[in-house]
Amino acid sequence: MIIRNLDLQPHQTMACASQAEAAARVRSLAELREALAWAAVQGCPVRVLGEGSNVLAAERVDGLTLINEMVGLQVVRQSDTTVTVDVGSGINWHWWVRFSSAQGWHGLENLALIPGTVGAAPVQNIGAYGVEVEAFVEQVEALNLRSGEQRIFRHKDCAFSYRDSVFKGAERELWLITRVRFCLPFHFSPVLTYGPLQSLQNPTPRGLIDQVCQVRQQKLPNPWQMPNAGSFFTNPVVDQAQADALQKAFPGIPVFPAGQGRCKLAAGWLIDQAGWKGQSDPESGVGTWPQQALVIVNPQKRPRSDVLAFAERIQEAVEDRYEVRLEREPRLFG
Ligand code: EPU
Repeated sequence: MIIRNLDLQPHQTMACASQAEAAARVRSLAELREALAWAAVQGCPVRVLGEGSNVLAAERVDGLTLINEMVGLQVVRQSDTTVTVDVGSGINWHWWVRFSSAQGWHGLENLALIPGTVGAAPVQNIGAYGVEVEAFVEQVEALNLRSGEQRIFRHKDCAFSYRDSVFKGAERELWLITRVRFCLPFHFSPVLTYGPLQSLQNPTPRGLIDQVCQVRQQKLPNPWQMPNAGSFFTNPVVDQAQADALQKAFPGIPVFPAGQGRCKLAAGWLIDQAGWKGQSDPESGVGTWPQQALVIVNPQKRPRSDVLAFAERIQEAVEDRYEVRLEREPRLFG
């Protein structure tokens, strides 16, 4: 069923004032095809929204906005050591992390409490506390929004890298991910390399999830109480020479190896040290979070233009000081 002029403010965690020209909730392939047929008759653009935790919505989103509510879960096969499961893309991510771990299917514990849906997870290759989701994604099933073609993207077709995949790059906005196939080990081998997790001694899966939730709650604002879209910028990757120069000029700057002679910087540190942590625009209220400068909050639920204007000031301040350009993480919607 097509809904006209749907208020999208409650449909994205940044809560920007926004309205969709037309929208449809899709719970099955049949509903999806029906909605696409409607859009084809109208000749209008089609966009997909999950829980809206990584988007910045325009004040008026033209065409058809699909709200993905495709659920369902199916064990495909089991070996002695792993289980392979197809998971509906509209399922809440944190629910899936807790459910899988409670079944004795492990690996996703470090990714607890990340907002959003299962279908959004491979798009930006979500990652936290030493784990990236791609390590457990066997394939992604998607439907082409223009041609209606159904396609399986094997792991190698997804072009996963840090906060990136084919669904963010070359094939952006072309596919609706319908199901994600995970392959998870029965054996629990916790990744405890990240600072605040190092103190855990032989944690249970549940203990690890609880600790991850605690760390996140300390550093990151709850998006349903304080509008935000998580990390607003990706951590910049620079070459070794630039990292060396920065370390000389700014002793103490965190630099992490990123492979192939490249280095990753901490965007939160750059913003913090440039004096922008906990700062906000007096008029719009848009600002950085006092516990994590990489998160931009929008307490007054202002339109996206105010958020982007504030972000631009941060980008300029960081570029002036470090000659590094920060790239925005959440994608523009509409
Ligand atoms: N830092 C500061 N000041 C700040 C924030 C960070 O000095 O205000 C320093 C920290 O002390 C640390 C470094 O910067 O030395 C990195 O900070 P942190 O460990 O908090 O992680 P991050 O690089 O800022 C990334 C992800 C997060 C993920 C954490 C933990 C990106 C863009 N963000 O943040 O993901 O939870 O690592 O693994 O890669 C998200 O994508 O929305 C997200 C929250």
